[in-house]
Amino acid sequence: MKLALASLLFGSATAFTTTGNHAAVSSTALNARKPFISGNWKLNPQSKDEALTLAKNIASSITDSSPDSDVALFVPYVFIESAMGAVDSKLSVGAEGVCPQINGAYTGAISTAMLKSIGVQWALAGHSERREIFGETDDYINAQCLKIIDEGMAVMLCIGESLAEFEQDLAGSVCAVQLKKGLKGIRKEDLNRVAIAYEPVWAIGTGKVATPEIAQDVHATCRAILADIYDQEAADDVRILYGGSVTPESVDDLMRQPDIDGALVGGASLDSEKFGRIINFQD
Ligand code: 13P
Repeated sequence: MKLALASLLFGSATAFTTTGNHAAVSSTALNARKPFISGNWKLNPQSKDEALTLAKNIASSITDSSPDSDVALFVPYVFIESAMGAVDSKLSVGAEGVCPQINGAYTGAISTAMLKSIGVQWALAGHSERREIFGETDDYINAQCLKIIDEGMAVMLCIGESLAEFEQDLAGSVCAVQLKKGLKGIRKEDLNRVAIAYEPVWAIGTGKVATPEIAQDVHATCRAILADIYDQEAADDVRILYGGSVTPESVDDLMRQPDIDGALVGGASLDSEKFGRIINFQD
């Protein structure tokens, strides 16, 4: 558990905790960034039966000796309700995205109201695959974030640079733009319902995990950007997760970095043994 220096100095603060599928905001005397391990199933698996088995097996890897973390699965809409039933209260099941509009002529879209009506608390926004393949812009992603927060849900905002940008030493600048644009209009008091996932595009699905040092460096930069947008106290409280080819072999060293508060896992979250080991990371 990573203690926020500001909390030591300023006393009480709020922390976001999940209780099953219903995340709650609770007060803590000493704020800490509780580890947050999450899986993003993307366009997988291909059947409800497979989804149920996977969700159940993942949930069974959470035991009394597991780290005290929040665990979430972001799954395709059609599997959300059955996955919730399969995991009981051990982890929360979130959506891979939302439509910023609440109703109307938006064929194929899913609203926050619909998600809330089945008990969904968390949703992703800004994943690089949504940016690149589906053409979601920073403005659209900001509208999603605002809607999710306005509706009382929680958002995991994904950011990260391309390989070309990384090679030109632009990771910090890209993250600054994506953070500033994505979080525009989100108030400091709502940040307890925001998590950031730093996912360098060059590490997603490539097997090329960022070294713990590179990831820590960018996470520290992201925290400094949050301090610039809000203030240091806020920046110290926001959880920043790393995503991009996280495996059982890489998770422990990543989680030992002071500014890495969790992981957003793609491929390895489709294998309950691997994801189970990631949930049971060794700090
Ligand atoms: P991989 O873990 O498959 O690289 O995917 C990361 C990711 O995109 C999670 O959102």
